[in-house]
Amino acid sequence: PLVTSAEMFKKAYEGGYAIGAFNVNNMEIVQGITEAAAEVRAPIILQASAGARKYAKAVYLRKLVEAAVEDTGLPIVLHLDHGADFEVCKDCIDGGFTSVMIDASSKPFTENIALTKKVVEYAHDHGVVVEAELGALAGVEDDVQVSAEDSHYTRPEEVEEFVSRSGCDSLAIAIGTSHGAYKFKPGTKPQLRFDILEEVSKRLPGFPIVLHGASSVPQNFVKIINDHGGKMPGAIGVPEEQLRQAARMAVCKINIDSDLRLAMTAGIREHFDAHPDHFDPRQYMGDGRNYIKELVKDKIVNVLGSDGKA
Ligand code: G3H
Ligand code: 13P
Ligand code: ZN
Ligand code: NA
Repeated sequence: PLVTSAEMFKKAYEGGYAIGAFNVNNMEIVQGITEAAAEVRAPIILQASAGARKYAKAVYLRKLVEAAVEDTGLPIVLHLDHGADFEVCKDCIDGGFTSVMIDASSKPFTENIALTKKVVEYAHDHGVVVEAELGALAGVEDDVQVSAEDSHYTRPEEVEEFVSRSGCDSLAIAIGTSHGAYKFKPGTKPQLRFDILEEVSKRLPGFPIVLHGASSVPQNFVKIINDHGGKMPGAIGVPEEQLRQAARMAVCKINIDSDLRLAMTAGIREHFDAHPDHFDPRQYMGDGRNYIKELVKDKIVNVLGSDGKA
């Protein structure tokens, strides 16, 4: 069934692993992710951004995810990624989502609390859970582009007041990740701020933390893309060992979108390069779906540690 993340996060926190939260936009992405999760018995979160809802239409996404539940029998959360205002959150809650994110992280502290609280009240009345964000990631979130100068780490001294006053169920924090496929300058050493995560979790014992911008940008897929007509020089993600460390700690949800895009693109580019005569979408989309499945299985087993938990 579609479930909330409450039980998933509790078990993940106690078990020292994290749930994969994967962004979905179409049928092949949904199938690649959920077929992988089913094979390794992993609970998962499928999330839709505003852009995804606009691209696919919200009703198609919900029906696709419901189809995946029916097909796999897995516990799956349907989550709104980066909800910008109360209305979009309400729309998703009314439309069958089991979890929403209200992202008011660009607003002043008290406005972030007030808006999050408003969403929490409506969501909890409808049995839906709420993720909020404190701190600002660099990179692109939907229409909002946050420059490196405007980004800032989460301030641990603010988290207790934020969570108790807003009533949110999980909290996304900024510890050095960013959205997209170009997270760090080539040649520099990526290092997440585990000291901040540690301090946050000390102040919020048992409370689930969320990591956005957590794609690792697998270099095998970047290479396939670049070897088959693509141009993505210097694409770099979060080192997998640091994601493993976060998953062992208070991080219970790890967001992955860019890696899915890379896998799909690698499969399609490779296919067209090998078969310039093909024009049946099932052939090239099928190869994209296969790479997504491969990617997600590897994530679950080797990074998140959520295999066998469903
Ligand atoms: O947070 C960003 C996600 O990768 C969603 O991206 O807004 O282009 O769908 P999108
Ligand atoms: P990536 O761009 O690192 O995949 O992050 C996705 C994300 O945080 C979606 O909310
Ligand atoms: Zn995000
Ligand atoms: Na964890």
